[in-house]
Amino acid sequence: MEERANNLIKEKDLVMLYLDDRRQFLVQVVSGLRVSTDHGDLNLSQIIGQPFGFVGKTHLGRDFYCLKPSTADLMMKVKRTTTIVYPKDLGYLLLETSVGPGSRVIELGTGSGALTLVLAKLIAPEGVVYSYDRRDDFIENAKRNLNHVGYAKNVEFTCADVALKGFNQKDVDAVFIDVPEPWDIVPKAYEALKGGHHLVSWSPNVEQVKRTIDALEAHSFKCIRAKEIIEREMLVRLQGVRPRERGITHTAYLIRAQKIIVPQ
Ligand SMILES: C[S@@+](CC[C@H](N)C(=O)[O-])C[C@H]1O[C@@H](n2cnc3c(N)ncnc32)[C@H](O)[C@@H]1O
Repeated sequence: MEERANNLIKEKDLVMLYLDDRRQFLVQVVSGLRVSTDHGDLNLSQIIGQPFGFVGKTHLGRDFYCLKPSTADLMMKVKRTTTIVYPKDLGYLLLETSVGPGSRVIELGTGSGALTLVLAKLIAPEGVVYSYDRRDDFIENAKRNLNHVGYAKNVEFTCADVALKGFNQKDVDAVFIDVPEPWDIVPKAYEALKGGHHLVSWSPNVEQVKRTIDALEAHSFKCIRAKEIIEREMLVRLQGVRPRERGITHTAYLIRAQKIIVPQ
């Protein structure tokens, strides 16, 4: 009974209003708010007190579905000021670290806050995300994105050029690097990481991968691997099932490595 009550949509909940694949709206529920679409207006008053999964109607009589947003939905709907990390890549890289509830992790750069959001969700309620970016305006946008989904509490932002200044923390559980020149950050990450723990990095170009791995080898990281995750969406239809012709064909090459404490 309690579980059913917990599944009811309340004011301020985040709901994915889904009409079809081209019409999906991530909204925070406010009584009386109307969302306009080319299939009619959705009045959010009608969904308050209904369970997730409820089927509503636009004022033109079209069905819409009240879905619980996935973590990938939250990431993909951030307001973007930069490119963001994609779910297919982050899913793999998170499993390549030991990050979980209570972890202290560093992220560079904050960008639009898509990665920050997922890390903040994962380390809650006791952990901390230390998020760095050299652009104040990007940090402000990321803060708004995190506040919107309610995950700002466990994040500490710092505006600094890390290639010059390094990180302020020691003994963190993981370092996530998403900047154009990761090789400059490798020595700073070594200083900040716990022994045996993980550095992960994203780079769109092969030349960046080579330079980053050279730096990792020179700074006592082991178990270094580079991978690319290729995702293909399937078209499942009466006339035949096959991969879609178009899609995101390349995002980034992914690097993972672990810090070794060199014997004196
Ligand atoms: C691709 S974006 C990061 C996107 C982010 N991972 C996300 O998912 O939203 C790269 C960010 O790194 C920042 N950056 C690049 N080099 C930096 C440095 N040396 N120190 C601090 N920030 C840096 C940029 O300002 C930019 O916001």
